[in-house]
Amino acid sequence: MVRPLAPEAAVGIVGAGTMGAGIAQVALQAGHPVILVDRDPAIVERARAGIEARLRRLVDKGRLAGDAACDALARLRPAATAADLAGCALVVEAVIEELATKRALFAEVERHVTDDAILASNTSSIPITAIAAGLRRPERFLGMHFFNPAPVMKLVEVISGLLTGADVAETVVATAVAWGKVAARARSTPGFIVNRVARPFYGEALRLLAEGAADAATIDAILRDCGGFRMGPFELTDLIGQDVNAAVTRSVHDAMFQDPRYRPSLLQEEMVEAGRLGRKSGIGFFDYREGAVPAVAAEEPSASMPGSIVVEGDPGPLAPLVLAALEAGVTVERDALGRGVISIAGAQLAMSDGRPAAERALEDDMPTALVDLCLDFAATPRLAVAFSPDMDDARRDAIAGFLQIGGRRVSVVRDLPGLVVLRTVAMLANEAADAVHFGVAAADDIDAAMVAGVNYPQGPLALAKSVGLSRIAGTIGHLGRIYGEDRYRLSPELHRARLARALDVRSAETGPR
Ligand SMILES: NC(=O)c1ccc[n+]([C@@H]2O[C@H](COP(=O)([O-])OP(=O)(O)OC[C@H]3O[C@@H](n4cnc5c(N)ncnc54)[C@H](O)[C@@H]3O)[C@@H](O)[C@H]2O)c1
Repeated sequence: MVRPLAPEAAVGIVGAGTMGAGIAQVALQAGHPVILVDRDPAIVERARAGIEARLRRLVDKGRLAGDAACDALARLRPAATAADLAGCALVVEAVIEELATKRALFAEVERHVTDDAILASNTSSIPITAIAAGLRRPERFLGMHFFNPAPVMKLVEVISGLLTGADVAETVVATAVAWGKVAARARSTPGFIVNRVARPFYGEALRLLAEGAADAATIDAILRDCGGFRMGPFELTDLIGQDVNAAVTRSVHDAMFQDPRYRPSLLQEEMVEAGRLGRKSGIGFFDYREGAVPAVAAEEPSASMPGSIVVEGDPGPLAPLVLAALEAGVTVERDALGRGVISIAGAQLAMSDGRPAAERALEDDMPTALVDLCLDFAATPRLAVAFSPDMDDARRDAIAGFLQIGGRRVSVVRDLPGLVVLRTVAMLANEAADAVHFGVAAADDIDAAMVAGVNYPQGPLALAKSVGLSRIAGTIGHLGRIYGEDRYRLSPELHRARLARALDVRSAETGPR
């Protein structure tokens, strides 16, 4: 087993801004002596004071012993030049995001450190291989990508360039874990793991808004309440800054040679041009100025529940809704032979499989309502639903009344393929699967990164398995058929996994062949 750096080993941090100060604090709390370098001594002093204040807050909250905080601070050595890094076993760079600056810095650092020192960059977007190309010993160089604020955020992406030694990456993984972090290994590719796999979370939401699926507050509420995401994409990008989020999208899009999957959103670019950057400018998709009325999600008015329903075949993921209706006193008839829908007042209700409700209404010759994906149909506080255009008001009310049983809120969205949560989850899983397919990272590392780095309720690949790979792949197929396969194309890895799963099921049913 590869061992982490010993706590006595000195760690150098170059760049004492937002990230450098945070990373220094992490290394100090892990017991290392830390040499903190910035070209501006006032910034090092500000970083030291910031670390002291944060450690004191931890002591006040009872999360850190007073002695431990004093010892950590005593291990911090402010410095001004690369020569001060001579004794470091690991140097982490967190200076401005500029290839030439980083290359020049590492050339200087290499003149002073020993041959076995590991060198790491906290870059979020510059290819590791490109920085390494200027090094005398590129095999000792890699990316160590922390998230802001580094002392709080659990994830560290450990990024190998073409020339990075495997032993070096493993030592850094073990060290990040010893520092209390979740380490996810990845190859240096645009966006690494998180900034690549998360793109559809923003990209699909922006397209849904542009297509008039619902307003921003409603899309956010659906992704929070039904999808289990901690924040909706619009409140989250308002927090990140629309300019910052758009810049990451543009950088991944350019680095992927304008692959339409990552195409920036006109809507978001317009927000940036208008200066509607989010919280920092007082207004973005939502208004944060004093006296502003908070936006609320659209909801159907309260409707009365239907007296009876017919469950035709296996209702699948909607079974908890049937159970709740039964408990509420609705008469539930069962018809064992059916295509897995719930009949209410002469209309059919099912969960989305990616096809629009209008298509299913035409195929089945019946007004159709489709429910969006929910992580937990038994406990969800909200359901999103789309209606085929032939749905009349009486049927719409009966379906709304059924969905509202137990006090659930019901948000109606436009009848678009895959609706909101299913479309988002399918595209996140597709992106994650593609990263696996091209050897960017292993499935477990991607899932761990998305949970630890951006608080997803589950990793996208685990989520796809629990939803069902054929529903996920089918949804992408329908999106591709309707919108075009340039953007909505199934990852070969999802295709492979779906086939493998189907073969598994068949051999379980038929036994060894
Ligand atoms: N801010 C984030 O959310 C975030 C998250 C992950 C990664 N990153 C990456 O981390 C790096 C630093 O970002 P930041 O937000 O901390 O920037 P920052 O502007 O807060 O800090 C950069 C610091 O580097 C110093 N510096 C610049 N050139 C130097 C040199 N040649 N020698 C010594 N010091 C030098 C500057 O004086 C400044 O204090 C960037 O590569 C960025 O892409 C940032």
